Parts: sequence; C-alpha cells; structure tokens
Amino acid sequence: MRITADQIEALNPWFYVHDFGRGLKTTPAIPPNVSAIHDTRLAMVEAAVISHFGTRAAGLDCLDVGCHEGYYSLAMERLGFRTKGVDARAENLLRARFVADASDSAVSYREGRVETLAADENRTYDLTLFLGLLYHVEDPMLCLRQVAAVTGEFCVIETQVVDEVEGYAEWGSQEWTRPYQGIIALIDEGGDFSAGIRETGVTPMATCPSPKALMFMLRQAGFRRAELVTPGPGAYEQHARGKRVVCAAWK
Ligand SMILES: C[S@@+](CC[C@H](N)C(=O)[O-])C[C@H]1O[C@@H](n2cnc3c(N)ncnc32)[C@H](O)[C@@H]1O
Repeated sequence: MRITADQIEALNPWFYVHDFGRGLKTTPAIPPNVSAIHDTRLAMVEAAVISHFGTRAAGLDCLDVGCHEGYYSLAMERLGFRTKGVDARAENLLRARFVADASDSAVSYREGRVETLAADENRTYDLTLFLGLLYHVEDPMLCLRQVAAVTGEFCVIETQVVDEVEGYAEWGSQEWTRPYQGIIALIDEGGDFSAGIRETGVTPMATCPSPKALMFMLRQAGFRRAELVTPGPGAYEQHARGKRVVCAAWK
C-alpha cells in the first residue's frame, strides 16, 4: 500500500521509528536518546534468534506477545518467520496494521491478553517473543506460564529488572530456613495507567523481577533452560548496566 505523510501524521503519537522509504517515516514521541533502546534490543533479539534457529527460520511460526506497533513482529518476518502479533490495545494494533500494510507485510494481528494466551491460541509457535511486557503485568508467573505453553521451541524475553536481594527466610522455626530465589518488586504504575499511556499493562499494578527471580520463574513456567544474552559493545545504557535484560529460553 502506498502511504502519505498525512496518513502517518494522523496516527500520531508513534512509539517507534518505522521507515517506509521515499523519505516517509514515523517520529516517536519518546526522546531520540531513549528511542535508541530499540537498536540494542533488536540487535540482541535477532542475535539470540539467529543463534538458535540459524538459517531454518523460513516457514517457521513466530508469536509476538505484546506486539505494540509490530516493530519486532516485522523484524521476525524479515528473518523468515510467519509471524503473528497479539496485543491488549486496539490503538496499538491499529498502527501495527497500518505499518504492515505500508510495508507489504503478511504479519497478522489479534487483540488479546497474555493472561489468557494458551486457551486463546490453543497451539504452539516455534518462536515466541515476550518483550517489554513482563514488568507491566501484575501476575508474572501466570503470564510466563501462558507464554511457555504457546512456545514450541524457543522464546526471547526482554524486561526491566530490579536489583538482586538475597537471603534466607525463616520457615516455621528459627532453625528452619529457605533461600530466596531472587525477588519480585511491586510497582505502582497507576499514574501512567490513568494517563492512558499505551505501554502500560492492563491494570495499574506492575511487578518487576530481579534477574535470579526471572531465571527461577522461567524454569518453573516450563522452560528447560534459560540464559541471559550478553549486550554487545555500544549497547543502550540500561542493557549495558544490567538494569534491563534479554533472556533466551528453551522448551
Ligand atoms: C512496553 S510495550 C512493549 C512493546 C513491544 N513488545 C516492545 O518490546 O517494544 C507493552 C505492550 O504490551 C501491551 N500489553 C499490556 N498489557 C498486556 C497484556 N496483559 N496482554 C497483552 N498485551 C499487553 C501494551 O498494549 C503494549 O503494546
């Protein structure tokens, strides 16, 4: 579909830079230094996916959970995956479909929530993406179980993480203890949620895991192995400092 600058502008605000060629591209509402986060994320996600699938992506299926405007869905399609995106917000999917049409992409989109993914999809995908959403949901374990249930082979998770807290909980007696498996922080996202920010979860309460909690939850959710992906040189400051992580997980 041939698009115009007016059509792009009519869909402001955008969250990503989508470059349509002919000098037509979206301008994200977030500052350019923060928008650069997507270069790092894309490089890390692509590296993990290519490292696992090599050249056999063509014809395999990918599900992008919390796909927003489809930025990463389109990237997976470019790698050869038959890709579908799911998102809770119709206004994000409106933009995702516009970008797909403008890019002659075959990515399909569905409105839905990660909390009910397994029953809604009732199938598995060779590759699943769960990027930038875990730390916006109020029940992270439920959501990871849902993502694991629809993952056939390989999943890439990207999330904000909180600092590690380690120790021992007393467990019925001073002598009986259990080690912490990392922590899950509770975050009040009510301000952004009430303001209608399109990147929040579907409730005002969010949770954010520590890296150890993330690894423990992934194994409990049904992944047999999970590894953090190392950021490359020049990575976005949050990934470089370990405050956001990309994680590869295998079924
Ligand atoms: C921070 S954005 C991340 C978008 C994209 N995955 C990325 O990494 O750039 C979170 C996205 O998840 C969607 N979302 C929020 N809660 C959701 C839920 N419970 N189920 C599915 N999508 C949800 C939002 O509408 C938004 O598009």
